[in-house]
Amino acid sequence: MIKLNLYRNVKVLVTGSTGFKGSWMCYWLFLLGAKVYGISLKSNEEPILFNALKLKSKIKQFNCDVTDYHKLNQIIKSIKPDIVFHLAAQSLVTKSFMDPLSTINTNVYGTAVIFKSFIQNNCNTFIFCSSDKCYKNKEWIWGYKENDELGGIDPYSSSKAAAEIIFHSFINSFKLNQKSTKCASVRAGNVIGGGDFNQDRLIPDIIKNYFNGKTINIKNPSSVRPWQFVLEPLSGYLELGLLLLTKSKKYKLPSWNFGPDFNKIYDVDYIIRYTKKNIIKDLKYNLKKNNKIYESKFLFVSNEKAKLELGWKPRLNLEQTLDFTFDWYNSYKNNENILNITNDQIEKYYR
Ligand SMILES: NC(=O)c1ccc[n+]([C@@H]2O[C@H](COP(=O)([O-])OP(=O)(O)OC[C@H]3O[C@@H](n4cnc5c(N)ncnc54)[C@H](O)[C@@H]3O)[C@@H](O)[C@H]2O)c1
Repeated sequence: MIKLNLYRNVKVLVTGSTGFKGSWMCYWLFLLGAKVYGISLKSNEEPILFNALKLKSKIKQFNCDVTDYHKLNQIIKSIKPDIVFHLAAQSLVTKSFMDPLSTINTNVYGTAVIFKSFIQNNCNTFIFCSSDKCYKNKEWIWGYKENDELGGIDPYSSSKAAAEIIFHSFINSFKLNQKSTKCASVRAGNVIGGGDFNQDRLIPDIIKNYFNGKTINIKNPSSVRPWQFVLEPLSGYLELGLLLLTKSKKYKLPSWNFGPDFNKIYDVDYIIRYTKKNIIKDLKYNLKKNNKIYESKFLFVSNEKAKLELGWKPRLNLEQTLDFTFDWYNSYKNNENILNITNDQIEKYYR
């Protein structure tokens, strides 16, 4: 396994730096001693993890729309990053129904824009953060592998599939992975962790309703998803990024799944029951089927390739993941120094 402290002094650009995963990623890279640059839309929302982690003083942040080629290219030209992690996206399935065009614009065109600028500026390594939802969901009971068919039944999922197709076409057309693999797409499962304040996601919804003393309506309790702690996929992205940057190795297929093990996947109902029994005993909820928008029932990605070829593996089970997550939110609610618990969780997770 490659040592993450090799990130010391590496110039890393993270798009989507003010988002949930982007903030954890920038903070972890900062702790590793990397020179971290962030790109995202200007956010006036509160709370956001970026502010809670005081990232403004720890990284060099640019507010820029990833669909603005001219501005973005100027930024990349001035930084000349060694490695780009492209996480910026309209990341919510429900929002993609309300605003499909801007979802497609950001997720598809925005990915093409930043990748084109990366090529233009001869940067070294590019990791595109795609999604488990990029696969054509056939409601299989086994996990999708990296060479399975792409699809996507809703606007968000199809935007990720479309971005993947364009991304791979650029790699081939501009002969980017010819000598060694330098560009890759990564497909993670449903990520859970402290500091996610997005709408219409299970854990943030539980937290918001609980903190406000409200009853939460649980949609689609029987939906099975590859839930995982936020540091699971991020550790995979970071290890892969370093390997591509420092080693001259060619991988046949430049896509990687980072999901939980097959015997560690659960439905929404299990998460709710575990949370009520063990963590929030007075949690009030209604189970309610959502017929308004279509969501797949069963989704799981195989992590075999990452295990075999990278030596990456998931470290936490779902119960540990939920304990870590609710501990973080409790600490936040009690106005404790959030950096302490964040440092502590990164250290416990990756020791
Ligand atoms: N959270 C999950 O469970 C999950 C699962 C699989 C894949 N992903 C993918 O991981 C990535 C990060 O997810 P997240 O949960 O942190 O999302 P998030 O919604 O919390 O953050 C999105 C980030 O992208 C930025 N952004 C959005 N539109 C932009 C634009 N036009 N220009 C510049 N920046 C823009 C936002 O400012 C924000 O920083 C996304 O690509 C998402 O699709 C997330």
